[in-house]
Amino acid sequence: MTISAIDTIMSHRSIRKFKNQKLSEEQIQTIVTAAQQASTSSHVMAYTIIGITDESIKEQLAEISGQPYVKDNGHLFVFCGDLHRVEQIGSNEERLAMQKSLESSEQFIVMTIDAALAAQNAAITAEGLGLGICFLGSLRNDVQKVNDLLRLPPRVIPLFGLAVGYPDQEPELKPRLPYEAVYHHNTYLQIEKQLPFIQQFDQELHDYYQIRTQNKRKDTWTEQMVRKFSNPIRMDVAPFLKMKNVNKQ
Ligand SMILES: Cc1cc2nc3c(=O)[nH]c(=O)nc-3n(C[C@H](O)[C@H](O)[C@H](O)COP(=O)(O)O)c2cc1C
Repeated sequence: MTISAIDTIMSHRSIRKFKNQKLSEEQIQTIVTAAQQASTSSHVMAYTIIGITDESIKEQLAEISGQPYVKDNGHLFVFCGDLHRVEQIGSNEERLAMQKSLESSEQFIVMTIDAALAAQNAAITAEGLGLGICFLGSLRNDVQKVNDLLRLPPRVIPLFGLAVGYPDQEPELKPRLPYEAVYHHNTYLQIEKQLPFIQQFDQELHDYYQIRTQNKRKDTWTEQMVRKFSNPIRMDVAPFLKMKNVNKQ
C-alpha cells in the first residue's frame, strides 16, 4: 500500500537525529528532481541546490549553525536564491538592461519563494521515501561565511539548509495554530477576533511541551514569539544582500 501525499504531509515533524547512513545517489536524484518540478515564477527557476559531501565544509557549516544534525545526517542540501544564472545568459548589453530588475525587492521575493517551493517539494518527497528532514535557517548565523565556503557568485545567496536522512527519533507532531486564526474569509480577520484562538493555542502548546518526551519545558506560543521578536538576530543579512547586489531597490 502506498502512503498518499496528504498522509505524508500530515505526518510531518522535523527530525534532528539521524542514523549513520548516507542517502543513495538515486534517492538524492529523486529528491532534487522533485524539487525542480515545483511551480516557479515566470519559469525563472531562481534557485540552486548545493549538495554538501565534503566533510570539511560540512563541519564548518555545522559549526556556523551550532546544530550537530547539520553534520550528522544522510545528506545535506543548501538552498540558494539565484539570479546569477539568468543574468549571465545575457550579452553585456542585455545584462545592463537587466540590472535594475535583478536588484529589485520584487525579484528577491521571487527567488526566495522559488527556492522555498522547491525545498518543500524536496522535503515532502524525502518524507514520502520514508526519510526525515530538518530545515536549517541556522546557516544564516554567519551568512557571509557560508557564502564564502560555497563560493557563491554575485546575486546568489544562501537561504537555508535541508538535512535529510534516516530518522533515529520519533518526535510527536507539533501542534499548529487553530485553523480559524490562519484561514480568514474574504478580508483579514481582526486581531481581537484571532486572540481567543491564540489563547486556546497557547494552552495546547503549553500542554504539548509538558507531555512531550524530549526537551520538556514550560512555555506558550505567545511567550516564545515575544521573546523571539524582542531579540533581533542576523542583522548582518540586510547589508549582505546589498553586497550581493540583490534586494537593493
Ligand atoms: C526556513 C526554516 C528554517 C528552519 N531552521 C531550523 C534550524 O535552523 N534548526 C532547527 O532545528 N529547525 C529549524 N526549522 C524547523 C522548525 O523549527 C520547525 O519546522 C517548527 O518548529 C515546526 O516543527 P515541526 O517541523 O516538527 O512540525 C526551520 C524551519 C524552516 C521552515
